[in-house]
Amino acid sequence: MKMLSIFLVLIGLVAAQYDNFSAPFRLILKSDDPALNGTALGACHQGAATEGLCVTTQTLSTEPTDYTTFTYATSSSAPSPYDTQGLIYWNLTIAGGTDVPSALELTVNYNSDIAIPIFTPGEAKATTLSVAADCEDLYIPRSQDDTVSPPAYLDQTEKATNWYVCLTRYAYLYETLVWKMGAKAEPQNPSCKKVQVTRVFN
Ligand SMILES: *[C@@H]1O[C@H](CO)[C@@H](O)[C@H](O)[C@H]1NC(C)=O
Ligand SMILES: *[C@@H]1O[C@H](CO)[C@@H](O)[C@H](O)[C@H]1NC(C)=O
Ligand SMILES: *[C@@H]1O[C@H](CO)[C@@H](O)[C@H](O)[C@H]1NC(C)=O
Repeated sequence: MKMLSIFLVLIGLVAAQYDNFSAPFRLILKSDDPALNGTALGACHQGAATEGLCVTTQTLSTEPTDYTTFTYATSSSAPSPYDTQGLIYWNLTIAGGTDVPSALELTVNYNSDIAIPIFTPGEAKATTLSVAADCEDLYIPRSQDDTVSPPAYLDQTEKATNWYVCLTRYAYLYETLVWKMGAKAEPQNPSCKKVQVTRVFN
């Protein structure tokens, strides 16, 4: 009985982890490439109940649509004193109009140096991302430097923004957002263009 209640408490903690959903927003690119600068990212089909994050022709001056509207789920039980850590969600609408919340994972291909964002139902495999409070840019905190030996802790955690837009083939050939792994050099994929990703509420 005691074990069971401990188990239920643990389940409750896990279920409550990313429970505070933000207002809906779009993910807008900033780039030196004028074709990308100011455009919105949108969910794009990559398989059954599987979507990537593709470049669209939407901009801030066009209306948001379902496929460019996301929410950000943070933890209400462990609020961070710094920028939040959370999950990006997109709603997959299935037959009957039911919304299936699908969280974003940066999927790794061991023969590449870029990770491809993919939405699938639930949050089991999702990747936590942070949003900078001062500029609304998406980033991943970097606290260790393994470009030196031995690996060192950074005095101050950096806000890594290794975002690029590249032609990728997760399932289909698309122009998608990617995360460049590591702190050095450019992606090996020659189509990649540097971007920043900014949250802009609808
Ligand atoms: C990108 O768009 C922003 C907002 O419209 C603009 O201020 C900036 O100059 C543009 N940057 C480039 C490189 O075109
Ligand atoms: C997803 O669907 C739920 C339930 O209908 C809704 O509360 C939420 O705002 C939706 N999220 C987005 C990103 O549209
Ligand atoms: C939920 O997140 C909002 C920001 O989106 C924050 O203002 C609010 O305090 C959070 N609520 C809880 C219970 O953590």
